[in-house]
Amino acid sequence: MKFFIDTANLDQIKQARDLGVLDGVTTNPSLMAKEGISGQDNILEHYLKICELVDGDVSAEVISTDFEGMVKEGELLAQIHKNIVVKVPMIQEGVKAISHFTRQGIPTNCTLVFSPGQAILAAKAGAKYLSPFIGRVDDITWDGMDLIEKIVGIYMNYGFNTQILAASVRNSLHIVKCAELGVDVVTCPLSAITGLAKHPLTDIGLAKFLADHKKSNG
Ligand code: G3P
Repeated sequence: MKFFIDTANLDQIKQARDLGVLDGVTTNPSLMAKEGISGQDNILEHYLKICELVDGDVSAEVISTDFEGMVKEGELLAQIHKNIVVKVPMIQEGVKAISHFTRQGIPTNCTLVFSPGQAILAAKAGAKYLSPFIGRVDDITWDGMDLIEKIVGIYMNYGFNTQILAASVRNSLHIVKCAELGVDVVTCPLSAITGLAKHPLTDIGLAKFLADHKKSNG
């Protein structure tokens, strides 16, 4: 199971990298805006900084919604670094663009996926990654994990090469549930990754070990 961090914040990317468990990074236009990164040159430069921090795939999202625009943007993004994956929204023009990039050997991450039908289409178009959004499905009181389970089943039926990259992960339990389903990649906030380490019995046990050591060693 690969761990990606879902942020454009360089400090958080470094913290996750320094844990030694980070396999890649995903970003989106909202996350770039949150870091105050704007203007094409600054955006491209920021992606390069991320690629230089992490030895793994870095998803960079197009903002065009038409085929020609997506292709132009995607080709520019792909030139930044060998690890850039072009992130494309699941709309008809996006499917066309993913098919095009697949033929060109440019890896893609199909984003904003909310249904098994969309997952089938992205795999047929040859996306390297598929990003179904767990948290946003939960937000509307549907079941995000149920969506993931359905997609895992479908992809297994046909042996699709597209990797399921569970996105909109909001907590550590989402990560564990994805692992139970055999999801290829999770992209999450730093807090969801570090949250995996937490257990009250670990804290209690450590406190006792240290207290016992102090008793006998002074
Ligand atoms: O990058 C897409 C996705 O991970 C966004 O998550 O929490 O904004 O729904 P969220």
